[in-house]
Amino acid sequence: MADVAARCGAKVAKVEAPWGQIIEPGQIAEALKNRRPKVVAVVHAETSTGALTPVEEISRLAHDAGALFLLDTVTSLGGCPVRIDDWQVDAVYSGTQKCLSCPPGLAPVSLSGRALEVAAKRKTKVQSWYLDVNLLASYWGQERVYHHTAPISMNYALHEALRLLLEEGLENRWKRHQRMHGLLRKGIEALGLRIVAQEGHQLWQLNAVSVPEGVDEAGVRKKLLNDHSIEIGAGLGPLKGKIWRVGLMGETATEANVNRFLSALADCLKG
Ligand SMILES: Cc1ncc(COP(=O)(O)O)c(C=O)c1O
Repeated sequence: MADVAARCGAKVAKVEAPWGQIIEPGQIAEALKNRRPKVVAVVHAETSTGALTPVEEISRLAHDAGALFLLDTVTSLGGCPVRIDDWQVDAVYSGTQKCLSCPPGLAPVSLSGRALEVAAKRKTKVQSWYLDVNLLASYWGQERVYHHTAPISMNYALHEALRLLLEEGLENRWKRHQRMHGLLRKGIEALGLRIVAQEGHQLWQLNAVSVPEGVDEAGVRKKLLNDHSIEIGAGLGPLKGKIWRVGLMGETATEANVNRFLSALADCLKG
């Protein structure tokens, strides 16, 4: 996100936490002491580390500092509560391919009136023609001014994914993700492993599982894939070689999948 913003010409000040820990509101308050940024941006559900950052307080701090609040909900949407109105999020983007269980290709977005107003009042044109929300507003609105060719097949796919979500019920889907996380957690603890993300802020849909000392991290993933047709993620950055990332997103978050994974993992750990 920092890289994208910098490429768009933003001067970015990063607020960082140790991998697996959340961004604390106090860190944001500290960073805002001597700055008046236009935007404060946070990743809600951190897919790389399995931590879920609570954002309500951060949103308040951003607004008090006169900034817009931007939230990445790529991994959270559909898997756990995302309350963009309650949390006063000004700009939010997500993906279709995670907890909505839809093919990849679209990025659902939502913008507050405040964010649209900032865009409308720009004195210069935004550098991206495709992501110019003023042009998009004329296309999406009543005028239907041509802007781009909509990927209709993707829209149908998203429509079906959302229909299935509503059939299950949004809150039921959150609860299912929570239950499957609990089941996985119990199972891996029985194997002597643990979830490494910060206690109390562990994501339900992405589980960062500790790799035991002396175990060949990549070898276990390879065996899981070759012998059991189960693919899990490797650790990234400082967590490389130390964790496995087990996604339980959308349609994949089922009791049968969790149990199958646990018995396959136990088999792979035997050597
Ligand atoms: C939290 C988060 N943000 C953004 C992205 C980027 O999404 P995409 O791969 O659809 O560009 C990902 C991808 O995994 C992600 O996990």
